[in-house]
Amino acid sequence: MRRFEDHGALITGAGQGIGEAIARRLAAEGARVLITDVDGERAARAAELIEGAVPYVCDVGDRASVDAAVAYAVERFGSLDVLVNNAYSCTPDVPLFEDEPDEHWARDLDLTLTGAFRCARAAMPHLAASGRGAIVSIGSVNGEQDFGNHAYSAAKAGLASLTRTLAGHAAPRGVRVNLVAPGTIHTDGWKGREANLERAAPHYPVGRVGRPDDVASAVAFLASSDAGWITGVTLPVDGGILSANVALRQALAGPPVSGER
Ligand SMILES: NC(=O)c1ccc[n+]([C@@H]2O[C@H](COP(=O)([O-])OP(=O)(O)OC[C@H]3O[C@@H](n4cnc5c(N)ncnc54)[C@H](O)[C@@H]3O)[C@@H](O)[C@H]2O)c1
Repeated sequence: MRRFEDHGALITGAGQGIGEAIARRLAAEGARVLITDVDGERAARAAELIEGAVPYVCDVGDRASVDAAVAYAVERFGSLDVLVNNAYSCTPDVPLFEDEPDEHWARDLDLTLTGAFRCARAAMPHLAASGRGAIVSIGSVNGEQDFGNHAYSAAKAGLASLTRTLAGHAAPRGVRVNLVAPGTIHTDGWKGREANLERAAPHYPVGRVGRPDDVASAVAFLASSDAGWITGVTLPVDGGILSANVALRQALAGPPVSGER
């Protein structure tokens, strides 16, 4: 499939992990991709491996940096047709909630939620001009259910709301806006915590944690004309974890303990 022939795409935080996999997938289907990341070396390394990809340093926490990245994509590719909001911040919770500092909350909200807003604001006129514009943001199952990380989860829930309001605003301008909500995905973000992934796997109904390509496929679908009548939705890419509770089902199905009714 070459669904993104002659498309210009911009992906944030694409120097590694899920963002890099999305860049590889869109490029494989014909897109010219601006691999943006706050870490320039990562962006350059990822772009070297992907045909048609161009690296660019962009911090989603900074409006001027975002505006410049969008302008560069339009200048370089001639149009901007796809925006993928993938960059984020997830600060681990401190042990006691009342000790949470404002800085953690502010950082996670700013990079995860406000960053996507900044990118969408800068990209919107160009996506509207494209006639086939699409925004796909990367949310999380954390935006839908409690899996820890207060600020990150609130930011991801906020992204679901922004997706809906922006979809309504942008539909008359020919732009679709959707959200993918991944469960646990094995990326470099989990380096040093591989044991946690092994512990997590049996909780997933499909019996494994996700791979970056699982998310990239869903993003490519939502960004493409195959999803031309889909806007404002949150698509879980989560091995079934939001719809099934494996541990509870097993507990309820177990044999009765003697003396129990
Ligand atoms: N990996 C998972 O288990 C998982 C689960 C659910 C959702 N997600 C979501 O998927 C997305 C990607 O996750 P990942 O695991 O691939 O991440 P990662 O940590 O492997 O990579 C994130 C990239 O974002 C870049 N980045 C950080 N701050 C930035 C900023 N201010 N501006 C621009 N770039 C910045 C980093 O340099 C890095 O290259 C995120 O939105 C994350 O919330 C991940």
